Amino acid sequence: MASHAKLFEAARSAMRRAHAPYSGFPVGAAILTGAGNIYSGCNVENASFPEGWCAETSAIAAMVLAGEGEIAEVAVVAEKMPRITPCGGCRQRLCEFGSAATRVHLCDADGVVETVTLGDLLPRSFALG
Ligand code: THU
Repeated sequence: MASHAKLFEAARSAMRRAHAPYSGFPVGAAILTGAGNIYSGCNVENASFPEGWCAETSAIAAMVLAGEGEIAEVAVVAEKMPRITPCGGCRQRLCEFGSAATRVHLCDADGVVETVTLGDLLPRSFALG
């Protein structure tokens, strides 16, 4: 299976675990690291609405917890939006561990619809140093 197809499957499996009772908008994300491992995550909402967080953020946390820190590729999928793109905050979070060339696969329920780069999504991102 092509790496982007595996990444899509991981994102879609994670989406099925989403805790999204308030928005009714389950999202899944999966990260392929430079070391070749996949970490996935889902959105986790809260009754106090601003306290919820995004699928991409969950996937980043899983990657960091495993001791990794280089994002090579990302896949994002939402049940109710073909070709979802990461929100602004998650673009900046992904940039922390990726580069302008990092590939971001935008998916629908069946697979990758379009592949863009982090540089396309967040040109001139903030960076210290
Ligand atoms: N959401 C994500 O998980 N990732 C995104 O990139 C966009 C938005 C979640 C947050 C919230 O739980 C729901 O989608 C609706 O905004």
